[in-house]
Amino acid sequence: MGASSGIGHEVARLLIGQGWTVGVAARRVEKLEDLRDCAPERVFTARIDVTDAHADEALCRFIERMGGLDLYFHAAGIGRKNPELQAETELKTMQTNALGFARMVGEAYRYFVLNGGGHIACITSIAGTKGMGPAPAYSATKAMQSTYLQALEQLAGNKRLNIHFTDIRPGFVDTPLLDNTSHFPMLMRTDKVALHILKAIEKQRHVCIIDCRWRMVTALWRRIPNWVWRRMRLIKNQDEHHH
Ligand SMILES: NC(=O)c1ccc[n+]([C@@H]2O[C@H](COP(=O)([O-])OP(=O)(O)OC[C@H]3O[C@@H](n4cnc5c(N)ncnc54)[C@H](OP(=O)(O)O)[C@@H]3O)[C@@H](O)[C@H]2O)c1
Repeated sequence: MGASSGIGHEVARLLIGQGWTVGVAARRVEKLEDLRDCAPERVFTARIDVTDAHADEALCRFIERMGGLDLYFHAAGIGRKNPELQAETELKTMQTNALGFARMVGEAYRYFVLNGGGHIACITSIAGTKGMGPAPAYSATKAMQSTYLQALEQLAGNKRLNIHFTDIRPGFVDTPLLDNTSHFPMLMRTDKVALHILKAIEKQRHVCIIDCRWRMVTALWRRIPNWVWRRMRLIKNQDEHHH
């Protein structure tokens, strides 16, 4: 889900290369065609908008069309800096990353409950580690996604369901999601990040922070006391005054 660009597109390409039967979905179906051309007999495409109230039913039909599901991979997401706290950006982010996420992951979970289990892997972000001033809705929805996966994993474990979960948290990745006007430190290449993701899925890792530098940074962030975090400047002056 969210295979038309960036990390999702690259992960889909690698899975197709490994011989999987892959269903790729997003709003821009035309950007899924190159994936279908890789192996037309085992690549299925669908136009799904996760913010659509019926997107869960669309996923259900898509799974039927593919003949089943072993791995649900969720990459769909939006995010941008919003230091002006524009209402539309905040709410759209919540709709996609929180409501859309719960809608689709919930559908995959219920499918696996009824069909003997499976694996749910989602790209969340290191941005969910702490509340980040420049991108409030983005960091809050990413924290929500990680907490939601943690909750589902406990629930599935309590019920002895055979469902595995992988929470993938990359640092900055060079994709269209990042606006190209700012500088992003420790920027990673999409192809490298996708390889990390495949390995984490294969090993059924519970949480995977990409890469080791970001693992260190987030470990430090977690140790920063709240009174210090509140005073930390994550925006440059030019961002503050930019309209
Ligand atoms: N880039 C980074 O630095 C970074 C870091 C950490 C985590 N992430 C996360 O990684 C995931 C993938 O992002 P990316 O960096 O690869 O960005 P991207 O290139 O913009 O890809 C986002 C994907 O999500 C899909 N999407 C967005 N809204 C959707 C909707 N309403 N319904 C269905 N699909 C939707 C897009 O497809 P359509 O527009 O065609 O629908 C696209 O395929 C996101 O969850 C993002 O938060 C990114």
